[in-house]
Amino acid sequence: MEKIVILTGAGISAESGLGTFRDEGGLWSQHRIEDVATPDGFARNPQLVQEFYNARRQQAATAKPNPAHVALARLQAEWPGEVILVTQNVDALHEKGGAQDVLHMHGTLAGALCAGCGHRWTAPDTMRVGELCPACGAGGGRPDVVWFGEIPYFMDQIYAHLGAADLFAAIGTSGNVYPAAGFVQEAAMAGAHTIELNLDPSEVVSNFAETRFGPASKTVPAWVDELLRR
Ligand code: OAD
Repeated sequence: MEKIVILTGAGISAESGLGTFRDEGGLWSQHRIEDVATPDGFARNPQLVQEFYNARRQQAATAKPNPAHVALARLQAEWPGEVILVTQNVDALHEKGGAQDVLHMHGTLAGALCAGCGHRWTAPDTMRVGELCPACGAGGGRPDVVWFGEIPYFMDQIYAHLGAADLFAAIGTSGNVYPAAGFVQEAAMAGAHTIELNLDPSEVVSNFAETRFGPASKTVPAWVDELLRR
């Protein structure tokens, strides 16, 4: 049976009230990437970085999945083949919508990571500067999110899935950040049909065989309905 690999980005959570990064008024127009999303930024000003992710963690905690998240969970449950969900998002809206085994390649707001020993644990609602690691006792606790200059998680697994995909979809992502922006080419090389579902054409739109533009809450449920009717 056909194997489907889906990559999601901030656009799928936009209608749940979580801001995207690069749309007008997005997070990267309010904060400098170098300050809040790099290891150097954390070393320079850990307070600022903890506050940035604390605010995002608090906002994400009350956000509800929208029809796009729910539709992807339904596809996973009802599709006779495998449906692999890879997300660049650090929120838990796929899981809240019912999805299983989501590969969070950029980490999660729910996690804390020890910069010293690499131990991971559940982040408190508010992380403080010098957050103590429960394993080694050092005060190097940071959000378990992947920053610029760091290697995303699950890359071996993801490339193996892309290499075996029959259908690849990218949903709500601008195609600015690699390696995720290059997944479409990997999947296409493996012979997969490729489809972009986004509000506007992404930076890598020309690499897709098929495109559908509109809000994810509309385009994704319609696409899933079509697939499940096939
Ligand atoms: P971006 O903010 O770069 O792009 C969001 C995309 O979603 C844009 O192409 C929008 O057109 C689209 N969009 C907005 N609203 C939508 C809606 N209602 N329905 C469908 N699409 C919509 O976010 P990402 O591509 O996810 O990484 O950004 C990738 C990475 O860059 C993030 O994971 C983050 C960021 O820097 C790190 O922090 C490491």
